[in-house]
Order: sequence, then C-alpha cells, then structure tokens
Amino acid sequence: MRTSVTLLQYDHGIVRQVLDVIGELLRSHRTDRHPAEFREAIAFLEQFLDRFHHAKEERFLFEAAALECPKVAETLVRLKKEHDQARRMMMNALKALDEGDVPKAEKEARTLVDHMTLHISEEENQVFPAIENCLQLETDVKVHVQFERFMEEEFGRNYYQVAEAFANDIQERLLGPGFFKGIV
Ligand SMILES: [Fe+2]
Ligand SMILES: [Fe+2]
Repeated sequence: MRTSVTLLQYDHGIVRQVLDVIGELLRSHRTDRHPAEFREAIAFLEQFLDRFHHAKEERFLFEAAALECPKVAETLVRLKKEHDQARRMMMNALKALDEGDVPKAEKEARTLVDHMTLHISEEENQVFPAIENCLQLETDVKVHVQFERFMEEEFGRNYYQVAEAFANDIQERLLGPGFFKGIV
C-alpha cells in the first residue's frame, strides 16, 4: 500500500460521485430544468478534478513514478494527455453554458463522463497497482508531503470536507437523498 495512491483513490471516489450525478442528469434529460446546478457540478470538477487531483498526479506522483517505474512511464505520458482532453471538455461545457447553448454543454459533459470513467478505471485497475509495486516507500512519504503542502497552500486545509460536502449536496439537490444506494 502507498499512502499517496490511497489518497488519489479517495479523490476518485468524490469525482465519481459527481460524474454519476451529471451522468444521471443527462440520462434523465433534466439539465434544462437545473442549469445552475449543472454548471456548479462542472465548475466543481474543473477545480477538484483538474486543478487539484490531476495536478497532484502530474506534478508529484507521476513525476516520481516515471523515474522509479520505467514500465509505466509511457502510460503516464498518455494519461497526462487525457487530463488535457478532460480539461478542454470541462472548459467547453462551461463556455457553452455561459453562451446558453445547453445541447452543446450536454454533449461535452457526456463525453467527459465517459472519458473520465475509463481513465479512472484504468488508473485504479492497472496503473496504480503497477506504481504500488515499484514506488519506494521513502518516495511515497515525499509525495504524500507534497500533496499535503499543495492542498494547504492552494485549496485550504479543509478542502476535503468542502469537496465532500459539495458532492453530497449536489447529489441530494439534483437526485434526492440516497439516490445511488438502491443502484449500487
Ligand atoms: Fe489521471
Ligand atoms: Fe486520477
């Protein structure tokens, strides 16, 4: 087990919860009834997924793993490209919403949900286990310290509480309490 990887998996849990809410909103064709919440959910991902989670992967864990785990180095380059693609999808969706083009925002959001679902499962099932096999324990400690410092400096010490509260709140406001309990 590597603490830095466990923390990224924890982030994935919060990201997935919000992706699922967006996915359900699209599936049930209710985005036009909740444009403000739809925008809030995408704006949250633009911050939590792109500026927080992907930044931690690229700047700290992937950086260290590229040196210690040469087998995954090429995959990490591709995953970084996928982060760039996800960022463009989020920015396009937000821009479309600002311009009142809900169908375009829906299309971008649908692509984002599919893209990120695949990306996260590849990380969880293939890339992270490979990194856990080769990352030195001392490096893991260093990466963990970098994560903590980055969060405190850029997002605040209680960012996890804020992000979790947002994910639960947007789910409850859009889908009702305990929506996914019956499904999973
Ligand atoms: Fe990633
Ligand atoms: Fe990730």
